Amino acid sequence: MKIVCGPASKELAERVSALTGFGSVPVAFKTFPDGESYVRIEGSLKGENVAIVQTACPPAQDGKLFQLAFMADAARRGGAEKVTAVVPYLAYARQDKTFLVGEGVSVETVARMLKAAGVDELVTVNIHSEPALEHFPFPAKSLSAVPLLAEYFVQKGYSAAFALSPDKGAMSIARQARQVLGGDAGHLDKERDRYTGQTVQTAKGLNVKGETVIVFDDIISTGGTIVGAAKILREKGAKHVFCACVHGLLIGDAEKRILDAGVEEIVGTDSVPGSVSKVSLAPLLSQELKAQE
Ligand code: R5P
Repeated sequence: MKIVCGPASKELAERVSALTGFGSVPVAFKTFPDGESYVRIEGSLKGENVAIVQTACPPAQDGKLFQLAFMADAARRGGAEKVTAVVPYLAYARQDKTFLVGEGVSVETVARMLKAAGVDELVTVNIHSEPALEHFPFPAKSLSAVPLLAEYFVQKGYSAAFALSPDKGAMSIARQARQVLGGDAGHLDKERDRYTGQTVQTAKGLNVKGETVIVFDDIISTGGTIVGAAKILREKGAKHVFCACVHGLLIGDAEKRILDAGVEEIVGTDSVPGSVSKVSLAPLLSQELKAQE
């Protein structure tokens, strides 16, 4: 297998190459003055099983998706035998159904675009909704980085912390974290108005008095969910509040707002390279790619 180092995930791809022992192939890229993307794979892929590592997180997630499609096309034209897109953060995954009349299913459109470009298989990490993968035009898999995030807190001495998910739908994430942490787990409830996007969070029967609580979520975008959760946890007497997410998008001043809300540390992964990407997905992705080879 060869690892193609997508421009959006160069460091992660190189780590995967080092862990797996699969050779890495660099990619030259630039943006033309009119904003269009250019990529060129700098190595032979003839007859190879190829994994293109390229996250599609903001900013400029559309450009990152196009770079991925262009790399898949280039790999195919270069004679690659099989192309696996390794996309830690898959943009548009939250539009996985038509919530309102007149909408499309954006994540399916993205998958079909990648298929047309030459992708044979896709590996992502903690996609917002796994059932969405069943409608992709190729085999697709979502790995979970939650155990790695929980392990980070164990290493910091917070084993037995309370694992909380900010809504019931994410309870499976809190359960996975609990398996590593060994403490208790629970969830808040969150209702979203589909027109305004406003959410209301509540806590029914949650007892976290004196506890160290880690809020686990798949995505932190504006930070509103975590800020709301932190407020509830403080009211309920939590002693320490941390948060962990797989995809720390941290749009605008989200990071500051979360810390101002009393969260002691924000921990994310390198699916979104940045100030909170303290946990690398390299071991998780390497294990998967080795199993595929
Ligand atoms: C939604 O259900 C997700 O799991 C996250 O909770 C959400 O995307 C976080 O968004 P924000 O940070 O804007 O509240």
